[in-house]
Amino acid sequence: MRVGLLTGGGDVPGLNAAIRAVVKRGEGEHGHSIIGFRNGWKGVVDGDVMPLTRQHIRNVLPVGGTLLGTARYHPHTADGGLDAALATLEAERIEALICIGGDGTLHAASKIAEAGVKIVGIPKTIDNDVWATDASIGFDTAVSIATEAIDRVHTTAESHNRVMIVEVMGRHAGWIAVTSGIAGGAELVLAPEEPFDIDRVERFLKHRHRAHASFSILVVAEGAVPAEGTSMHYETQVGQFGEIVAGAIGERLKGELERRTGFDTRVTVLGHTQRGGTPTAADRILASRFGVAAIDAVDAGTSNVMTAVRGERVELVPIEEVAGKVKRVPQDLLQVARALA
Ligand code: F6P
Repeated sequence: MRVGLLTGGGDVPGLNAAIRAVVKRGEGEHGHSIIGFRNGWKGVVDGDVMPLTRQHIRNVLPVGGTLLGTARYHPHTADGGLDAALATLEAERIEALICIGGDGTLHAASKIAEAGVKIVGIPKTIDNDVWATDASIGFDTAVSIATEAIDRVHTTAESHNRVMIVEVMGRHAGWIAVTSGIAGGAELVLAPEEPFDIDRVERFLKHRHRAHASFSILVVAEGAVPAEGTSMHYETQVGQFGEIVAGAIGERLKGELERRTGFDTRVTVLGHTQRGGTPTAADRILASRFGVAAIDAVDAGTSNVMTAVRGERVELVPIEEVAGKVKRVPQDLLQVARALA
């Protein structure tokens, strides 16, 4: 078979491990030809192809980024995009397409599937908010980077008696903020799941610094917002594709907290450091399992599914169940972060 492969949306560490697994298993075990599309859906629309053989995947396992390139581009929202994508897939005689992406890429995949193309999705996003899977490629690496950053900020916060705000990624869900906050021992975690009351944050910090501490670490997800009816007014600032302007909420909180508490406050915006560099072992393993499961599904003639990890197992879930939904941090995890403040 001729099997297409693309990586779409924001990159994450572990994409190359997934590509490698698809190529190794697809070519070696099943005898399929793997045709890569450069820069996500843009490459499908433009006919920008790159045949992938074992030679292309040598030594890529520990390398961050994606050897295929990626882009935030969705054919169904571009003029003539869907027709152009279908024309390329026909011209290239693609019999099934494996799409590695987050919600946007998988949503586009479901639109292409509606036109009769056989699709298998693989979830990736450092935000970890893809529905129906316990984990997505990239999340584990991002959490370790954020945890290390919090550890580092900790010692300088203590030396200077400061409030340190660490802003992490997480548009609709605060998985990175909550888990790295727990792992790094943050005093406060602000996540999109629970809009915050700035008066309570102020009271908490004043009490803590009066009672027993001279510094505090506050981890904030970029998508965190104040609760309606509270005394801070703030609108999340987003770019063309809904990506949040890095540093916006962190800087705003710094201003509010300095004004309200008088504590010396600094902001560290982790931004794209969370998406770069070498993947953790856990992400390499997850990506490899997803890659193998995806090409095995293609080989078995299964389509319009996404690989998902549930407990110990990798399963296939219908792609239309996933598109458009957000997996948010559950209450019990949010509660652990609160309990350890
Ligand atoms: O979607 C994943 C993500 O890393 C978000 O957490 C973040 O808001 C966004 O991508 C940043 O996008 P870009 O790389 O396009 O600036």
